[in-house]
Amino acid sequence: MNKIRKAVFPVAGLGSRFLPATKAQPKEMLPIVDKPLIQYAVEEAVAAGITEMIFITGRNKRAIEDHFDTAYELEAELEAANKQALLELVRGVIPKNVTCIYIRQSAPLGLGHAVLCARPVVGNEPFAVLLADDFMDTRPGTAPVLAQMTEVYGYENCSLLAVQDVPRENTRQYGIVRAESYRSNLELVSSIVEKPLPEEAPSTLAVVGRYVLSGAIFEHLENLGAGSGGEIQLTDGIAALMRAERVLAYRYEGQRYDCGSKLGYLQAMAAMGLKHPETAAGFRSFLAQLAKENGHGGT
Ligand code: UTP
Repeated sequence: MNKIRKAVFPVAGLGSRFLPATKAQPKEMLPIVDKPLIQYAVEEAVAAGITEMIFITGRNKRAIEDHFDTAYELEAELEAANKQALLELVRGVIPKNVTCIYIRQSAPLGLGHAVLCARPVVGNEPFAVLLADDFMDTRPGTAPVLAQMTEVYGYENCSLLAVQDVPRENTRQYGIVRAESYRSNLELVSSIVEKPLPEEAPSTLAVVGRYVLSGAIFEHLENLGAGSGGEIQLTDGIAALMRAERVLAYRYEGQRYDCGSKLGYLQAMAAMGLKHPETAAGFRSFLAQLAKENGHGGT
């Protein structure tokens, strides 16, 4: 079976839609209930069998490095206070067999540029890309989204883009693919365009933040000049790759929350708050109370 061993986490974006929360920390450190977005994404990669995590960091890199490092002082204090459960929680943030590597993106020159920064570490092998601000929730019994994709990679052996249908008026927020149906949940991509106007979009099939990419993508990214807004777009790199190699769009099983936006973030928090064992009951009754008050208030 073809194995994906490395995952790239671009976390160097400006996160301007989430200012001032992102003034001094990357948006990927925003928590959903009690866990930062980046930890959910790393856990998804671990569940897909990945052992090398490559973070492309920007000016606010400290918080992420610290989160995945040993916290000596905190651990000593928890130990002294005999808080065993919390100690396990802090120590278990990342499994022992997983390696974290940090590469600095000197300026936010686009997602394609961020991915290209991983080239010296990834080399020529296929790898995953996870955008942690796309929070993926799956039902119990369903494999996490990246594990679904690495399984498909195991027999298709080509680049894969996670896709979902979006309302036509939203095509400007996504890379949009034109694709023909290939087999269940999989489509053969014939073109891809970054953030098209609704009237110009080739379809409503949008690429979201999970990719499995062939190592050949680096060559294509390298050869690209800066695209729209002076940035190197991953979409343009995939468009070039697609002319040389097969690229498939994968309709994943799961619910995506766009946590780069305020509304998506609130939705994710609510969905997970209703599932978390410590908050589910209390949060449910709070929401019911809130709905009742709002229903009765106003008029
Ligand atoms: P976004 O398009 O969400 O941009 O990036 P952003 O800058 O993070 O957020 P806004 O639009 O200003 O609010 C998509 C992903 O690519 C990463 C981001 O961290 C995010 O995970 N990224 C983007 C980089 O790592 N480097 C870049 O130069 C651009």
